[in-house]
Amino acid sequence: MNVTVIGTGFVGVVSAAIYASFGNQVVGLDIDENKIKLLEKGQVPFYEPDLQDLLLKEQATGRLKFTTSYQEAIKEADIIIIAVGTPSAPDETADLRYVFASAKSLAPYIKENAIVVIKSTVPPGTLEETINIIKKETTVNFYGASLPEFLREGSAVHDTLHPDRIVIGADNDFVFSQLEKLHESLKAPVIRCRIASAQMAKYTANSYLATRITFINEIANLCEKNGADINEVIQAIGYDKRIGPQYWYPGLGYGGSCFPKDVKELAAYSRSVGESGNLLNHVNEINKERIYRLLEKFAQEIGGFRGKTVAVLGLSFKPNTDDMREAPSTKIIPYLSEQGANVRSYDPMAKYVSSTNDHHEQFSSIEEACNEVDVILSVVEWPEIIGFDFGTVKSNKTQYFIDCRNQFEESKITQQGYKYFGIGRG
Ligand SMILES: NC(=O)c1ccc[n+]([C@@H]2O[C@H](COP(=O)([O-])OP(=O)(O)OC[C@H]3O[C@@H](n4cnc5c(N)ncnc54)[C@H](O)[C@@H]3O)[C@@H](O)[C@H]2O)c1
Repeated sequence: MNVTVIGTGFVGVVSAAIYASFGNQVVGLDIDENKIKLLEKGQVPFYEPDLQDLLLKEQATGRLKFTTSYQEAIKEADIIIIAVGTPSAPDETADLRYVFASAKSLAPYIKENAIVVIKSTVPPGTLEETINIIKKETTVNFYGASLPEFLREGSAVHDTLHPDRIVIGADNDFVFSQLEKLHESLKAPVIRCRIASAQMAKYTANSYLATRITFINEIANLCEKNGADINEVIQAIGYDKRIGPQYWYPGLGYGGSCFPKDVKELAAYSRSVGESGNLLNHVNEINKERIYRLLEKFAQEIGGFRGKTVAVLGLSFKPNTDDMREAPSTKIIPYLSEQGANVRSYDPMAKYVSSTNDHHEQFSSIEEACNEVDVILSVVEWPEIIGFDFGTVKSNKTQYFIDCRNQFEESKITQQGYKYFGIGRG
């Protein structure tokens, strides 16, 4: 099949390379000329494990091409996949302008019986609006579908090759069968459903996972009041088959390119349909305050951050990505600077762009970032950070070790001479 992916961001590049690896002729299209120039040279504009090799391999076969030309990308396409960004607008609704702009641009070139698929995360009603935009510009027959994306940055190639399920929202057997065919080599369960159900499924999955994080943080707050240990509580509840042991992350709350925006957008959607008391509005508010609440608690425990030098370890929003969208570090570093601390940071891949108010310097190793600091703040569980021997950077003065993700053994860090603080331990 001829497949075009519009938007060559995280989702678009991964999808394009993988659809090419199934033997399709794939074109990746973007309006960002610099991005396309890099991709044409076989360079991935961001860090994602395994993607660089896959990209080069598929480009070498001639099955994967990139362009900024809508005409070139659309005129032969059987399946057109829209994977452009859908950030939150200032009123926290989904900003759909990129989806609608791509629909307007593709419309003049669409061929008979092509399928326009929205992979971007969008609220119910968006596909219908997108179809209407295209219909205004063309008389050819075409179809629409929703194909929400569930990959995680940091393991995007693996997730796309081994999905838990493929969700197809459509109202036509031809569309279902074509999209099933596109994914048949994955041998994943396929869920055929209504268009609105597919769109809701994506928001529901992310909002549920974000709520789970918020929930366990609320329980961690209570553990700190009564001598319980959140890790023991998680172990105890995880044996309950209705609850399960996986995906419990007490810590700094959720960040990244998807959870904060998807919760906000579903909360905004709930308000727009008259459900303003929806739980998600509260989840969103609790998460916004989470980092500050924790930092204030730690500040009290260590006698404040003023005048202290703090090593912030991990800058990206999670391990194995350089994505800084809604990364905790983007709140932590300004907060610490405002409190009068000096910040030294390290990340294996991500780069923090300091503002003029930040007292911050980024270093190229953990050793340098931790040199003679008063406080070590372990923020992201990169394997290099959680595997590091912090005994090697311990100085003779009093030093605090704040384990923001409960990744370290308290007894080991204490034996190395640090005063240890974790999450959810009374
Ligand atoms: N990043 C993730 O982990 C992830 C996971 C699942 C779903 N999603 C969803 O997938 C969508 C894309 O996310 P992303 O992180 O890949 O976004 P991104 O911001 O990394 O990339 C979006 C790309 O779209 C391009 N673009 C914008 N307008 C365009 C237009 N009119 N024509 C062509 N290209 C255009 C931009 O230049 C950019 O390269 C979003 O809706 C997001 O919510 C993202």
